Amino acid sequence: MVARALSFGVVAEAYERFRPGYPTELLELVMAYADVPIRTALEIGAGTGKATRLFAHGGIAVTATEPDAAMLVELRKHVPANVSTVQAAFEDLPLDSSYELVYSAAALHWTKPEGRWDRMAALVRPGGVFASFAVPIQLADPALKEAVRAARAPYLENDGVPSPDATPPADRAMEWPGTELLEAEWFTDVRQAVIERRLTMSAEDYVGQLSTVSAYVMLPPAERDQVFRRILEVLPETVELNAEITAHLARRRH
Ligand SMILES: C[S@@+](CC[C@H](N)C(=O)[O-])C[C@H]1O[C@@H](n2cnc3c(N)ncnc32)[C@H](O)[C@@H]1O
Repeated sequence: MVARALSFGVVAEAYERFRPGYPTELLELVMAYADVPIRTALEIGAGTGKATRLFAHGGIAVTATEPDAAMLVELRKHVPANVSTVQAAFEDLPLDSSYELVYSAAALHWTKPEGRWDRMAALVRPGGVFASFAVPIQLADPALKEAVRAARAPYLENDGVPSPDATPPADRAMEWPGTELLEAEWFTDVRQAVIERRLTMSAEDYVGQLSTVSAYVMLPPAERDQVFRRILEVLPETVELNAEITAHLARRRH
């Protein structure tokens, strides 16, 4: 799990090139929820800074934290001057500063569950906001999804991220990490919101995006090449993707 969580750096440039960025609706959603101006933010697992850019361009002084040095090198190429960086995993962040917003995009599931919300509460200023965004990118066409599943099956049974939830999302009104936030004594006003998003990209770029997904990164290189070749064989030139963003928002109690 730790090896997988830290597997992204080897693909930092591909990550920056192939993973979609975040839409302004996400910034607007967080600002509307906060209901007061936000000037400072801490980002957990910032990667190459795709979400960092969104919040920094919104005028927020972002402290982008990320354990992987290669991801941080890529991040620094793409962020404005109001971003400072710290190389650290969430578990190692010093708890001597707190922020009006603490957020994490596609990264919270990599953090250790033990003590997660006590640490988070120490980092969010009383009355401040915590936000987590999940972006599971899926082929929109169920038949293509099945064809890709069959093509990758001999190499990989599952290409999703390890799920902290035992129950599948369809069976729950509130998904993880909202489920944990509802239980966390330091947080209140827990909300879940979905931003619908469809993307169209070439099959080559879709496979480029898969090459940054930890399950594929962990495959031996020869198998990885084979699985991508087989996936490309079953895809048309262009594919449509469901790239909806599920956001969880909560307020730190006073
Ligand atoms: C899927 S990437 C998301 C990157 C970026 N937030 C984005 O949305 O594009 C997950 C990131 O979490 C980082 N990560 C892994 N374990 C972590 C931990 N324990 N604490 C903080 N970040 C972690 C990885 O290095 C990687 O950059």
